[in-house]
Amino acid sequence: MARPSMDRIDARAKVTGAARYSADHKLPGMVHGHLVTSTIARGRVVSLDLGAARAAGGVVEIYTPDHRPVFQGTLTGLAAVFAETRPPLADREVHYHGQIVALVLAETVEQARDAAALIRVTYEAQPPNSSFEDAKEHAVSPPSVPGLPLGVPIKEPENVDIKAVLAASEVTIERTYEIPPRHHSMMEPHAAVAVWQDGRLTIYSGTQGPAAHAMELSGVLGVEQADVHVISPYVGGGFGGKAFTWAPAMLAAAAARELGRPVKVVTGREQLFTVTGHRAASSQTFALGARRDGRLNAIEHATISQSLGEDPGYRTTPKYYAAPNVHISMKITPGLDLPTATIMRAPGDESGSFALECVMDELAEELGMDPIELRMRNYLESTLKGKLPYSSKHLDECYRVGAERFGWSRRGERPGAVTDGEWQVGMGMATAVLDAGRAPTTVRVAFRPNGTATVGNATSDAGTGMWTVMAMTGARALGLPADRIRPALGDSALPFAGSSDIYGAVGSAATATVTPAILTAAREAIAKLAEHAATAEGSPLRGADDVRYAEGRLTGGGKAVTFGELLTLTGTAEVGAQGTSADLDTTHAYASYAAHFCEVRVNRWTGEPLLSRFTTVVDAGAILNAKTARGQITGGVLFGLAAAMCEEGRVEGATGRISNANLADYLLPVNADTVEFDVHFLDHPDTRLSPTGARGIGELGTVGAAAAFANAVHNATGRRVRTLPITPDKLLA
Ligand code: MOS
Repeated sequence: MARPSMDRIDARAKVTGAARYSADHKLPGMVHGHLVTSTIARGRVVSLDLGAARAAGGVVEIYTPDHRPVFQGTLTGLAAVFAETRPPLADREVHYHGQIVALVLAETVEQARDAAALIRVTYEAQPPNSSFEDAKEHAVSPPSVPGLPLGVPIKEPENVDIKAVLAASEVTIERTYEIPPRHHSMMEPHAAVAVWQDGRLTIYSGTQGPAAHAMELSGVLGVEQADVHVISPYVGGGFGGKAFTWAPAMLAAAAARELGRPVKVVTGREQLFTVTGHRAASSQTFALGARRDGRLNAIEHATISQSLGEDPGYRTTPKYYAAPNVHISMKITPGLDLPTATIMRAPGDESGSFALECVMDELAEELGMDPIELRMRNYLESTLKGKLPYSSKHLDECYRVGAERFGWSRRGERPGAVTDGEWQVGMGMATAVLDAGRAPTTVRVAFRPNGTATVGNATSDAGTGMWTVMAMTGARALGLPADRIRPALGDSALPFAGSSDIYGAVGSAATATVTPAILTAAREAIAKLAEHAATAEGSPLRGADDVRYAEGRLTGGGKAVTFGELLTLTGTAEVGAQGTSADLDTTHAYASYAAHFCEVRVNRWTGEPLLSRFTTVVDAGAILNAKTARGQITGGVLFGLAAAMCEEGRVEGATGRISNANLADYLLPVNADTVEFDVHFLDHPDTRLSPTGARGIGELGTVGAAAAFANAVHNATGRRVRTLPITPDKLLA
């Protein structure tokens, strides 16, 4: 069966500039905000000299900790765990370098920026505690959060002395892996345009979850959720950085209320590094105990990170290998004078898979065993806890097909064995596992007299392809061509089910969540339409008792009419219905899988590691749009490889400043760093997860990619780099 594939329906609007992102909105009377951020990491603001700034042209208002717009509350729910809980400008205390200390509002963006540069801030500075390296020594167990399993130790079985089991194993290895902080670096910065009318807020603000954004803003502003309207049809990347609400949107909304004028706040690129969250640094120690035949006997995984948002242990380790004794623990380093960490694409899993899939490679080498063979000997069929069977798992096929496509059999077993002139050539592989799931959600489907049908849900398209997959799924459900479906998303006024689906495009679950609800809503809408045909005045089918719908046409009583004609004849603007998808079947566990294969070439003299080939074979259920799915996997793999190759937020010890907080110094991979990826999808629809059979893919490619690279570098050179990124200096050292 040919896999469905379709160009993004939003592609033309995006490449021509017709797509209006948050900051593209201009409203009459709008004022422009510019953030002023702290130049110390710990201490307090003693004074802000605003004289020159106030006298500068076009300045409307300057907010500071002493004179701030009103916030009635703080972030609650998941945002209270994964984002900043203090409202901006809360007080004069400074907790990190780059914290907002003032907001300048002026008639033009240039005037706001120029006035901001005239503000003189005097600080009482203290030496910051900004070193994760130092803080690791004093890491503590994280506070427990009701309903969140993150950070909670896992001991299977309960009362086994893991150290004793490890010591008694035939082979034991223990390794520590270090990962520096990373920044989302999405193309579109956080930006918001806010306007109030009659006590209601309309805010254009790029977000992964319009309903959650409305809920969070309503709490901060002290208004009803229904009185906050979030509009976010286009989002220039989120990666978790736009899952929760950050200060720029709060300030735009609160300032607009105070001033009675629309307010735009755009976060500067350097400011994004500090005021909108990042992936926390992590340190992980793995101890593996195994038999000589490769069967794991014990896994101990101890992790430390700055934030619960980055829990490599819980997220990763229970989902990979069947060991009879597993002990996972997490500690966090609270109180560091660093910007607030949040979730970032494959939170925990990207880091966890790097360490786990490297230590498995190290164990394979120790055992003299092929790395794929080692993984197959420890293949997991059901969850560690509760022994729930996986709904549909074809990871073994991923390994097999991937090895074949990539030419794994040509890998030199001995590290450093394969050379090509001055290049050392190596191959590595790694596994990717990502929890899959979905929430019940509500979709509205409606027929229109012009022959189109709308399909709406308050989800988001953060570049993920949701616009297109909604059109394709609507088309399939209604038997219409996709160009007659009008998807609607990115708007908090659209339907959603409630607490579990409000975050929209997070957890790689948006497609699995929204598409089954489209099928349900389409059935409801068709039933409404048939009833309308049989009863409405002016309907040619009126009185028929055998009305049927197929492919946009209604038949009954020996007559036929298209729905467009029907609605025109009956003078009806639309006939539609909402439908809510069923709850997830919890008798099984769900995950997506991939096997990555990476080839690198490392220069013998310069230590430069170059990516030369990459193959990924993916088992993610039904692939609803091959083109956007490939884009997601490709982007995800490169996102993961970036951690291996170059990305690193550097914190200056003495000042707590992120010294490379800009896109010139913070290295991201560019086209010259990458190659054309070979992405192959297996075709095993997960019909237990949902009727559309689609599992998540958005974060899957990210998982394991860095390990595949690191393992390839080791195979090429014999050098094992356990601290990311893998840069030439580490290979020459
Ligand atoms: Mo993703 S970190 O779940 O937005």
